[in-house]
Amino acid sequence: MTPETISWKDDHVVMIDQRILPHKVNYVVCRSHYDVAKAIKNLVIRGAPAIGCAAAMGMALGALRIKGKGTAIFLKELKKIGGVLVRSRPTAVNLSWAINRMLKLAQENAHQTVEELQQTLVAESLKILAEDIDTNRRMGLNGQSLINDGATILTHCNAGALATGGYGTALGVIRAAVEAGKRVKVIADETRPFLQGSRLTAFELTCDDIPVTLITDNMAGHVMKCGYVDAVIVGADRIAANGDTANKIGTYMVSVLAKEHAIPFYVAAPLSTIDLSIKNGGLIPIEERDQKEVTHLSGKIIAPQQVAALNFAFDVTPAANVTAFITEEGIIRPPYQEAFSSLFNSR
Ligand code: MRU
Repeated sequence: MTPETISWKDDHVVMIDQRILPHKVNYVVCRSHYDVAKAIKNLVIRGAPAIGCAAAMGMALGALRIKGKGTAIFLKELKKIGGVLVRSRPTAVNLSWAINRMLKLAQENAHQTVEELQQTLVAESLKILAEDIDTNRRMGLNGQSLINDGATILTHCNAGALATGGYGTALGVIRAAVEAGKRVKVIADETRPFLQGSRLTAFELTCDDIPVTLITDNMAGHVMKCGYVDAVIVGADRIAANGDTANKIGTYMVSVLAKEHAIPFYVAAPLSTIDLSIKNGGLIPIEERDQKEVTHLSGKIIAPQQVAALNFAFDVTPAANVTAFITEEGIIRPPYQEAFSSLFNSR
């Protein structure tokens, strides 16, 4: 089984260090919301739902440090804590979703004492983690119906247990298909530059004895053309109201290739990843990271000293390239704008 991504221990948070997997299994201890913000920024913890769980626990840690003041000041301080956490990464909407949920709960319980509010927030962060795992299992059950026995699924980045509270979104669908007795093989894109595919997806699937074959990102077109891929399943960081989907850099390229080869392209994501306040993908903030992640590999330079590099961490797949969204509430097919509105209106 894949080791736990994140957990709450007494008065601190423990995260598996995803920067050094699979060679070393090490844990990072966070004692404050500053530690959590740093861990999110430095990719100790990554993946949209896992970032949401970490942010919730970061809010709880921050809340525990607000001592001996009245509720009004507590709520003001909590807002500031949310401000620190929300600035850690821009693309995954689960981050602000979790922070806003924690802030709203605190405001709704403004009649409580500071000590009671602190416990309410710790409990809520644990609830968010438990709900995430449950959501992934429901998503898996819904999505596995789309996978045929004997299918080979290509995935990009890591949308597995490590990217979530546990079980995974895209990999959760694969796990559910395996649990339903289907023989499933996975092709994992290595996912340059952070190598979430080779380091994390291949690690997770190997832990679970699910057959996985690694390819470099630029092999995806060839393997599709040769008929090795029956479906693509990826996760998402933010889904706009029209269905345009931000996910790990390279996902857009995979979606274009899937369309060219008439291969179904599925996005598995919880409803918390859908951001109805954003009309289309062009408005989704795309994180740019340090050039060194491209010019260096394991600390060693792999390009000429002064060369400039672009390092966009995400790209946007147009809704037209998405065959369907797999969510905890079911499979959503186009037209997405209408489907999302009726789903959210009925909740
Ligand atoms: O930069 P990362 O590793 O946080 O990017 C992660 C992804 O793009 C995942 O595919 C996405 O967050 C979905 S995780 C269930």
